[in-house]
Amino acid sequence: MTEDAIDEAAIARAGRILKDGGLVAFPTETVYGLGGDALNPESSKKIYAAKGRPSDNPLIVHVCRWEDVAPIVEEIPKEAEKLAAAFWPGPMTMIFNKSSLVPYETTGGLDTVAVRFPSNKIAAAMIRAGGGYIAAPSANKSGRPSPTEALYCKEDLDGKVEMIIDGGQVGIGLESTIIDLTEEKPTILRPGYITKEMLEKVLGEVDVDRTIIAPNSGIRPKAPGMKYRHYAPQGDLAIVEGSPEHVVSYINEACGKAKAEGKVTGIICTDETRDRYQADYVYSAGTRSDEETVARQLFKILREFDDDGAQVLFSESFAGGGICMAIMNRLMKAAGQKVINADRESAEGGST
Ligand code: TXA
Ligand code: MG
Repeated sequence: MTEDAIDEAAIARAGRILKDGGLVAFPTETVYGLGGDALNPESSKKIYAAKGRPSDNPLIVHVCRWEDVAPIVEEIPKEAEKLAAAFWPGPMTMIFNKSSLVPYETTGGLDTVAVRFPSNKIAAAMIRAGGGYIAAPSANKSGRPSPTEALYCKEDLDGKVEMIIDGGQVGIGLESTIIDLTEEKPTILRPGYITKEMLEKVLGEVDVDRTIIAPNSGIRPKAPGMKYRHYAPQGDLAIVEGSPEHVVSYINEACGKAKAEGKVTGIICTDETRDRYQADYVYSAGTRSDEETVARQLFKILREFDDDGAQVLFSESFAGGGICMAIMNRLMKAAGQKVINADRESAEGGST
């Protein structure tokens, strides 16, 4: 179905499944979610089991009306009101202190709860039909890239969910921005489409969780899920940064070397450099003049490498403002934080 042509009968069926404690995968504007009744501890347990997700990793509670936030939180800070007015419904999740209505099974044992009000109309209709509070992590098997199309939900969760709603390809392609409002200063726990600059326009200065800026610091991230290796393709991925000339020649040389060793090679690049690469699989994620296209394609490409059986993988880097912080955050996780500076290193090993 599409947002303009919602299949009411299918939504009603999804609503019944959710109210009966079952699971439904559904589209949102960010990525597909794996939904269950957030107020039913058994549903949350089922979600963890279906994803193969550690149960200390809390779920986001999805609502479809602002009025539905108050009953599940202790209090609504004034920052939350401002942010909701600016960005809800939309790709932003806020962390509150939870009320007793929300079971610990849903929050992974935490006294806080993550709340999101998605803008996708199919999601909104399903949340309403399901009782108003839908816990939903991304609808991937734990460790795999978040699904940006229904077919990837099927790939990862077939047989483990009662229903998958196909709403086509998602618009954004990276998960929501998470902002914690339970500490003294509002803090970004996960970067997303709603950027630091956008949040600061509304709130004044906001912090960014240290582990996003310095991922190798050894500090524990505040969003439990951010500590897990995510989005990881089966191949060995490295990000290559530096001047475009050096990046292209480094990656081509390294792929040549890997190929000579009999390895299957893959590259994530952009429209600007696409024709200059040689590898078994070369995917452009979009144009650098519109980095939102890159965000939308990234998870799909990471999944495609697995289908291709690619073993040695390189990606261009996406330094810059706006959505780039979110793109790099996901890429860095996929690469296990491995970054090569092509201005300083050569593919032969050693410095240039
Ligand atoms: O865009 C999205 O947010 C998607 C769609 C489906 O809405 N959902 C999503 O959920 O990405 P998930 O479970 O894949 O990621 C949720 C992240 C995890 O890193 C989790 O640790 C963090 O949010 N989180 C959830 N509740 C939290 C809490 N109370 N405190 C801190 N972090 C929390
Ligand atoms: Mg996820």
